[in-house]
Amino acid sequence: MALKAAGGHGGNVHAAARDLRRPIESLLDFSASVNPLGPSPNVLRALDEGMRLIRHYPDPDSVRLRLILASRWKLAPEQFVIANGSTELIDLIPRALGIRSALIVGPTFSEYGSALHRAGAKDRHVRAARQDGYRPPLEEVVDCFRSGRKNGRRPEAVFLCNPNSPTGQACDQNGLTRLLKEVDRFGAWMVLDETFVEYCHELSQLPSVSRYPRLIVLRSFTKFYALPGLRIGYSVSSARTAALLRQYQPPWSVNVLAQRAAEAAIRDQIHARRSRAYLRRERHRFAKALSSLPGLRLFPSRANFLLLELPKPCRAGAVAAELGRRGLLIRDCSLVPGLTPRTIRVAVRSRNDNNRLVAALAKLLR
Ligand SMILES: Cc1ncc(COP(=O)(O)O)c(C=O)c1O
Repeated sequence: MALKAAGGHGGNVHAAARDLRRPIESLLDFSASVNPLGPSPNVLRALDEGMRLIRHYPDPDSVRLRLILASRWKLAPEQFVIANGSTELIDLIPRALGIRSALIVGPTFSEYGSALHRAGAKDRHVRAARQDGYRPPLEEVVDCFRSGRKNGRRPEAVFLCNPNSPTGQACDQNGLTRLLKEVDRFGAWMVLDETFVEYCHELSQLPSVSRYPRLIVLRSFTKFYALPGLRIGYSVSSARTAALLRQYQPPWSVNVLAQRAAEAAIRDQIHARRSRAYLRRERHRFAKALSSLPGLRLFPSRANFLLLELPKPCRAGAVAAELGRRGLLIRDCSLVPGLTPRTIRVAVRSRNDNNRLVAALAKLLR
């Protein structure tokens, strides 16, 4: 069972279970990078309590959650838009802001391009190079703005994911600051996807939204807070931009259980600290075990997943299919533009699960 990253997404355990004729519980899903410690126990209690509210419509303005987020990030509640996953925001941003052309820093999440196409906008790409270990090519983005001035092809927006998926690399902080200034100077929008930033939260640009009126930061409760099935995420921007984005949301796109779960999740700092500490330790151990496999190349990662390149003549699709037959689902990244046909991505899971994957890969690569 190969879960292909281009166009489709990882984490479709339902389709994998159907194809493999196995119950979902018997599959180890390394294809979606969700916190292996699961949601905070407080979230499960909040969900129990929230059940009494399902006979009412949810608060269409998610006021409670916005107040909690505003106090956490020392911003105004008007600067937050709560949505049905950050995907809802990615989808509506090009339409809400009337973006006609955008630059995507890749190889990256396919939804930026898809959302731009659905809105009738053009996308251009600058891509990190394999020989640079997929370091985000921020200087090239700056060059696009500078040279665009001459040839009239300056993009109206930049989509950048930090740390990036599926490569795992984070932007150099000075380079990112320079880029934010440059994009702002040219009056373009900067959509900064921080879906994976909780694992390196010191890199977050949330405080910069007050400085750059066209910066939109995206956050999610899917990965670090382990709530992919509830669908909840948010954007942080100027209050004016937030009001614009809200106009393009369908009413009640966020349900009451997702709202209550997110409120509990963001409050549980103990679970957050434990999750970060666990990830740091286990990512290091898992990476070390994987790098001992013959011919396997690992790329540096600041997120809760690792990008790997299989040795020649392996093919990502064939290896993903073989592991799938053993109940281990990984991301086949061979169709992601800018990655090689031998590239896969694996989430960092529990120590036991990770050991199972290392053992299975060792057998296949022998
Ligand atoms: C980089 C990135 N951004 C955003 C999303 C969307 O997350 P969600 O809609 O679950 O918040 C994903 C999901 O895989 C992702 O990988």
